[in-house]
Amino acid sequence: MADKKDLEKAKAEWQKLADEIRKHDKAYYEEDAPHISDGEYDALRQRLLQLEAEFPTLATADSPSQKVSGASSGRFPKSRHKQPMLSLDNAFTDEDVQDFVKRVMKFLGLEDMPAFIAEPKIDGLSANLLYRNGKLVTGATRGDGQVGEDITENLKTLDDIPLEITGAPAEIEIRGEVYMDKNDFAALNKRQLEKDKKPFANPRNAAAGSLRQLDIEITKSRPLRFFAYAAGAVSDDIAETQWDVLQRFSQWGFKVNPLTKKCNSVEEMITHYREIESQRADLPFDIDGVVYKVDHLDFQHRLGAVSRFPRWAIAHKFPAEKAITILRDIEIQVGRTGALTPVARLEPVTVGGVVVSNATLHNEDEIARKDIRIGDAVIIQRAGDVIPQIVEVIKDKRQKNSKTYSFPKTCPVCGSAARREHNTKTEKLDAVRRCTGGLVCPAQAMERLKHFVSRKALDIDGLGAKQIELFYEKDLVREPADIFTLEVRNKNSLTRLENMEGFGKTSIANLFTAINARRTAPLSRFIYALGIRHVGESNARLLARNFGSFEKFAETAKRAHEDEEVRAEFLSIDGIGEVVAEAIINFFAETHNIEALARLMKEISPTPEEEQKTDSPVVGKTIVFTGSLEHMTRDEAKAQALSLGAKVSGSVSKKTDIVVAGPGAGSKLKKAEELGVQTMSESKWREMVGPFL
Ligand code: IVH
Repeated sequence: MADKKDLEKAKAEWQKLADEIRKHDKAYYEEDAPHISDGEYDALRQRLLQLEAEFPTLATADSPSQKVSGASSGRFPKSRHKQPMLSLDNAFTDEDVQDFVKRVMKFLGLEDMPAFIAEPKIDGLSANLLYRNGKLVTGATRGDGQVGEDITENLKTLDDIPLEITGAPAEIEIRGEVYMDKNDFAALNKRQLEKDKKPFANPRNAAAGSLRQLDIEITKSRPLRFFAYAAGAVSDDIAETQWDVLQRFSQWGFKVNPLTKKCNSVEEMITHYREIESQRADLPFDIDGVVYKVDHLDFQHRLGAVSRFPRWAIAHKFPAEKAITILRDIEIQVGRTGALTPVARLEPVTVGGVVVSNATLHNEDEIARKDIRIGDAVIIQRAGDVIPQIVEVIKDKRQKNSKTYSFPKTCPVCGSAARREHNTKTEKLDAVRRCTGGLVCPAQAMERLKHFVSRKALDIDGLGAKQIELFYEKDLVREPADIFTLEVRNKNSLTRLENMEGFGKTSIANLFTAINARRTAPLSRFIYALGIRHVGESNARLLARNFGSFEKFAETAKRAHEDEEVRAEFLSIDGIGEVVAEAIINFFAETHNIEALARLMKEISPTPEEEQKTDSPVVGKTIVFTGSLEHMTRDEAKAQALSLGAKVSGSVSKKTDIVVAGPGAGSKLKKAEELGVQTMSESKWREMVGPFL
């Protein structure tokens, strides 16, 4: 029988867990911004349920365990989009828009400007509706762009979303924005206050909180609306232009935004933007900019996407919202690569409906240039999801006791010297001061581990920043390999994780299952997870595709240190330049990296990338384009080859499979002939790959 002391201990733990779960529920349901992964959340809930099973008096009516929940975790099931839901790149100035249009024209090799559609960028949350044979079968949130949450039943409650449409192709994904009208938002907040409930910060949060409700009656009672703006996967084409796509949506009973306009010049685009901006305050819905899209779908298709952004669209954002507050203190954060970043701690202030208490100060030069002192009144700004920034100091309000800040010359975490590197290219000092502690610096080590398990890297459920910090401090995980040996060490340990506060048997078992599931991670994620400087997601993908296996990549990188010719192998990869190549080679020249990798490779085997189009005749082949092309630009040709699963190189070697040569081809064509590499004309290339595009 559990005695009183046990109950008290359990109660204290329960209280902490319940508070934490409520906090996460709020972030997830009301703010649509979860702080932790589903796995971590599940672990918390499971521990709570375990405590309540052991001590039934804890299961009070207000326990988070009593909430109605569909899925076991109280969250929504996942739903994979048939076609990824992309994000939009941003433009802030008229010049950015001009550049965007120029890029589009250059890529397509057009002399005259193509038509663009300008539509307001609604500040809500996007949804993907799948109709099969005219019936709405699945409705999902955007999620990470590949996989969202299945909220079909909730979406079906919206008047603006037809349950059936006639004359549509057998299968079609319709994308659009769920939002709340400003008047409806005000009325909802009034009702919330009357019921003694917390009001929502802004219409976007209210829409997100209303839509993602497990209790569908709540969604039904909230006035949500929907604007359709794009088609995803379609079994048959529905139109030739974005404009006509919107017409068809309209015929099917969807609302499309009335402020949509077709523009034939950059001036028209900007004029429409200004027009919408001037109406912004009076519009019934919140917007945060204007989206420009190339009108012709054929052009959109040819332009394709670079990582998460389509080349054919951009969001022209409205100027950031500003506010005045007091800078209380400056603290230094040490990042994964040792960069010392100053962070301003601010007197909390609301900017555009969000409470801000931190802002980035970038680096020491920025603090000096803006003459920022502790105690100063400052103007801060927040644009979209970017980190708030300090625009300027209000000098008139400066107090006598304001303090200048002297930037540390040593790492505040490990005490190693912190230096500014000399950039050999620009002949200038780097703006960033870096801790030279490398592996001895706990901050760097910890950040590297966090990066290793993060969402775009190995993405280990139940192992987030918090757990990494805990395991690091307890000396259980110091380098990536330790993550994979944790289970065995835990079995033989006297202080087992299962008994640690905040964990339970089930959550630890789940954690090990999640870790073991990543012993075969895709190669590109693995390369990204290593945290090599300048190797982000898209470079990692390039490298994975070009080398095919980790062994080959690592071997080449090691040899490149000594051998110029091997080094050229990196540089020949289209998209990899000097800086990136240098960073990779340096990484593999460090003994401790090699040793840590050797330990890691005993635990994990990265798997080669899945080829996207296995039926194309150029999958895995290395292609070089040379000379001038007549039907497409060099950029389009390269993008085309990549989308068909080929690799593109800038130089000809024994490893080249095909050289596509246009008029004026010179030394590359000659070299190909000498080496006996297959060569072909542009028209032959088009004939060969055309059917696969
Ligand atoms: S088009 C590839 N059109 O903006 C094109 N998006 O940053 C992707 N949004 O997730 C979307 N209004 O939630 C498009 N008229 C509009 C939009 C719009 C709002 C949102 C959408 C998307 C985000 C992209």
